[in-house]
Amino acid sequence: MEVLVRIKRFNPEKDEAPYWAEYKVQAQPSDRVLDLLNHIKWNIDGTLSYRRSCAHGICGSDAVVINGVNRLACRELVKNVGSRIEIEPIRGLPVIKDLIVDMEPFFAGYKAIHPFLIADDPPADGKERRQSPAERARFDDTTKCILCAACTTSCPIFWTNDVYVGPAAIVNAHRFIFDSRDRGASIRLDVLNSQAGVWR
Ligand code: FES
Repeated sequence: MEVLVRIKRFNPEKDEAPYWAEYKVQAQPSDRVLDLLNHIKWNIDGTLSYRRSCAHGICGSDAVVINGVNRLACRELVKNVGSRIEIEPIRGLPVIKDLIVDMEPFFAGYKAIHPFLIADDPPADGKERRQSPAERARFDDTTKCILCAACTTSCPIFWTNDVYVGPAAIVNAHRFIFDSRDRGASIRLDVLNSQAGVWR
């Protein structure tokens, strides 16, 4: 099938404003949007810039807006998005070039919640901080965040309020607050409580 791929492009070194570039490519319904980006870069226009690494939904580097929805390009199949695909950089972060954004504001929110185990007390047996399967299960879901920023950059509050840490940071605060080995809950809750007025 022929697919029309429209990509919002911007090179701050030479463009005055972002513009839509169009590419017609042949694709299989089972191709991923990342395959189309790779095809365009490798065969049509080598100046196209975007991030990708694992290509399997693990590293979180290729979050983009596809037909208006934040997605990972490596997880989205052509058959699910149709023969006209619009791809834009995720919103609320400065565009460095084309689909590449500056992730620093996103990671600043993540760092604010202290995303590491805080445990100053010695282990009970002097060697290990043991945890039961039930205790581990309490925060299992929130260990799965891949820090792609798709959730945070789909939040309008994040676009306009540079104090808001965003949902990915809150998810990662949960991951440690509910970890039975961690002693830093009050530090993280202070950060989250400071957010309380952000969305009023
Ligand atoms: Fe790693 Fe898509 S390239 S998540």
